[in-house]
Amino acid sequence: MARPNLIWPFLLTMLSALLATSSATDTMNPGDTVRDGESLISIGRSFRLGFFAPSSSSRFRYLGIWYNTISQQTVIWVANRDRGINDSTGVLSFHSNGSLVLSDARGQVYWSTGAAAGVASPVARVLDSANFVVTGSGGGAPAWQSFDYPTDSLLPAMKLGWDLRVGRNRNITSWRSADDPASGQYSMVVDVRGDPQIFLLQEATRLWRTGPWIGQRFSGIPEMKTYDMFAFRFHIGADEVYYQFDILNSTILSRLVVRPTGLVERVVWIEGTKSWNRFWFAPKDQCDSVSLCGPFGICNTNDSPVCSCVQGFKPRSPRDWYLRDGKDGCARRTALDCRNGTDGFVQVTGVKLPDTSAAVLNHTMGLDECRAACLRNCSCTAYSNAEVTGAGTGCILWGGDLTDLRVYTSKGMDLFVRVAAADLETSASRAKRMWVAAGAVVGAFLGTLLLGWIGWCLRRRKTKTNTVVLGDDLELPLFDFATIAAATGDFSAANKLGEGGFGPVYKGRLGDGKEVAVKRLAKNSVQGLDEFKNEVVLIAKLQHRNLVRLLGGCTQWEERMLGSLLDWKSRYQIINGIARGLLYLHHDSRLRIIHRDLKAGNVLLDEEMNPKISDFGMARIFGGDETEANTRRVVGTYGYMSPEYLMQGLFSVKSDVFSFGVLVLEIVSGKRSRGIYHSDPNLNLLGYAWSLWKEGCGLELVDPSMVCSYPAAEVLKCINVGLLCVQDLPEDRPTMASVALLLASDTASLPQPKQPGFVGMRGPLEGSSSASKGENCTVNNVTVTIFDGR
Ligand SMILES: *[C@@H]1O[C@H](CO)[C@@H](O)[C@H](O)[C@H]1NC(C)=O
Ligand SMILES: *[C@@H]1O[C@H](CO)[C@@H](O)[C@H](O)[C@H]1NC(C)=O
Ligand SMILES: *[C@@H]1O[C@H](CO)[C@@H](O)[C@H](O)[C@H]1NC(C)=O
Ligand SMILES: *[C@@H]1O[C@H](CO)[C@@H](O)[C@H](O)[C@H]1NC(C)=O
Ligand SMILES: *[C@@H]1O[C@H](CO)[C@@H](O)[C@H](O)[C@H]1NC(C)=O
Ligand SMILES: *[C@@H]1O[C@H](CO)[C@@H](O)[C@H](O)[C@H]1NC(C)=O
Ligand SMILES: *[C@@H]1O[C@H](CO)[C@@H](O)[C@H](O)[C@H]1NC(C)=O
Repeated sequence: MARPNLIWPFLLTMLSALLATSSATDTMNPGDTVRDGESLISIGRSFRLGFFAPSSSSRFRYLGIWYNTISQQTVIWVANRDRGINDSTGVLSFHSNGSLVLSDARGQVYWSTGAAAGVASPVARVLDSANFVVTGSGGGAPAWQSFDYPTDSLLPAMKLGWDLRVGRNRNITSWRSADDPASGQYSMVVDVRGDPQIFLLQEATRLWRTGPWIGQRFSGIPEMKTYDMFAFRFHIGADEVYYQFDILNSTILSRLVVRPTGLVERVVWIEGTKSWNRFWFAPKDQCDSVSLCGPFGICNTNDSPVCSCVQGFKPRSPRDWYLRDGKDGCARRTALDCRNGTDGFVQVTGVKLPDTSAAVLNHTMGLDECRAACLRNCSCTAYSNAEVTGAGTGCILWGGDLTDLRVYTSKGMDLFVRVAAADLETSASRAKRMWVAAGAVVGAFLGTLLLGWIGWCLRRRKTKTNTVVLGDDLELPLFDFATIAAATGDFSAANKLGEGGFGPVYKGRLGDGKEVAVKRLAKNSVQGLDEFKNEVVLIAKLQHRNLVRLLGGCTQWEERMLGSLLDWKSRYQIINGIARGLLYLHHDSRLRIIHRDLKAGNVLLDEEMNPKISDFGMARIFGGDETEANTRRVVGTYGYMSPEYLMQGLFSVKSDVFSFGVLVLEIVSGKRSRGIYHSDPNLNLLGYAWSLWKEGCGLELVDPSMVCSYPAAEVLKCINVGLLCVQDLPEDRPTMASVALLLASDTASLPQPKQPGFVGMRGPLEGSSSASKGENCTVNNVTVTIFDGR
């Protein structure tokens, strides 16, 4: 669809190139003009300045600078971005007062370098760096330069940030849309307050924060490192505070760009495909949203729900918190007791440092001095090292609330948070004091659903009812706590089946011999009442042998499932069972249900290794013709969430299909999917599976602990289906109905998957060293052919 749009400007470029070849120069002297159709080209022919239309449908023409060496016109700077010229009479010339002025045939001025460039005999020149500079004829420092007025792109040698001497903050601001260069809503802006950071803003609202610079990278970009081809720096000085990058290999083209969609991306030009490839981007996931979990809250995408409180703190608005709205954050359990000197610090490890806009930075203090300084000052709430070089150096002191705190699975920093002496005890000892808020019981052999909603029951005790009516004429019996406790051996560890997102699940036996599974909701990280009710209603309405309803005696759990005990036959059975369960949810049940949190932890196995999908806490029921919905609150588990759900909150049956694909790849490989921050291919399961598949080494994905032989064709089929399910675009992914067909088919005629979601986001350059893998593996196709004759 974008193609036709590209051709027209491209032709124009060619045309203007033809027209301008004879006179192509990099310089404009007083009296010279650049008219629409003419251009200036830098001396090394890297960049061209001229007039362009952003798309064939655009009514307006703009003066801009674009790459001269690549076929796809890529505009990196626009002079008159907010005021297009509605015809082709635009002309750039020097005004008699020394300013460069862009005007049209009617003499209307669209843009000028303003008073800044009022030099006596000015010369304007396009440089090979893409900078357009105005100097006096004798040279010298630029009186004006385009690098001081960036558009949406940051190129090497450009500075993003403050020139404090003149009070100028250079920021990059998105285009309004792909064919309108006017200032859009999104900008990357350096904030010099406290320990300087860069923010991605939507108008004035902070969307994402890089965190402070901690030596070689930003605290909030753990995946950032000095590559062979880029050098990054963040300069903090009295005169200037800016971010800058350099490309060490001049054959590489790369830029940082803010998109009209609100993403900031680093893109690199791939000559082979003649396109820009996304090398890196932000924000990546829900925890990247500024302060999703509020003051003293910690966001962890591997948890469900993602928000928790720093040790020594509790949710400020428990109800909202349970409903997964963490904005209000956490409050202290015990007030600080500064004057008595008994306060201490809890260490929070592996984090993105909280907002440093109001923090105090000292580069000379060490960690011990830092701690002492924090203890001395009663308004100090936390401290950490300022840089990660060596064992850590420097000191950051926070006062007041700590906001926008998140954890990373690797490369996070240590933060020390001040708490009262009473709150210094470990969280493990606190866990013992957790309360039972509620429990669900699912009857086993009779297929009757029994329910104990204890928290509710205790609260409603006065009403003396012993059934709960949950809408839709569903009546569910209630159990009292003692019955449940007796059935599960007082929630003994031996009866614990596993731990879901909302709390542990126990097996048990009721007085009459019925086997049950009891879900116990912890008081702290409790499932919201709404979600719990949702789950109960759904389980009550659903009936399928691969859903949890009929099953009580679940004897094995996720770790087992991904563990080495399973041979291929069981794994294959599990994959097929989950597919049937999901097919039932999506298509065959009376309701159309999207599970939204399908993951290994939500699949229970019975003694015969039949998988049962559980945990409907987040499921949504859809009307028959509804296919997609949008949610403000993205819930689910990191590593299983599809790109469109994670980024835009869009969920549909196809987001469940994505989770299913991840699950299949996990079952085959015995590895966990942990998400997209990992450049380590062993941890980025989708990327790893994809790279093996592309190289024709699909079978290398197979769990090495699966020593017994396995039918390679069946394994490859599963990997193929798994990869089809995790494709980037929802419309490319099969429905569960197709998945069932694909899994049942014996042929090797499966469609080839496209690149999975999240994978293109890692640099193609980064992974180039793995190219040798292809040598000693069985090539996909060959193996499949062999088994065709089976
Ligand atoms: C361009 O805009 C001017 C007013 O700024 C208007 O007078 C003129 O008619 C427009 N030309 C076209 C071709 O729309
Ligand atoms: C020169 O004139 C232009 C157009 O009127 C104006 O925008 C610019 O600010 C002036 N420059 C100086 C140095 O006064
Ligand atoms: C970005 O810089 C421009 C020019 O200095 C300024 O007008 C604008 O307000 C800045 N945007 C933000 C979000 O700071
Ligand atoms: C720069 O990159 C190209 C490939 O893009 C490579 O062929 C060349 O050797 C590199 N040059 C240096 C100096 O690293
Ligand atoms: C200091 O501690 C003592 C005993 O623990 C307590 O009674 C007193 O109120 C505390 N002082 C302050 C200022 O909190
Ligand atoms: C940093 O701490 C040292 C030692 O406490 C002190 O001498 C110095 O003045 C501090 N620097 C700043 C900029 O506050
Ligand atoms: C105490 O800490 C606060 C917050 O970090 C800071 O604003 C204040 O200047 C500090 N006071 C002293 C005496 O260091």
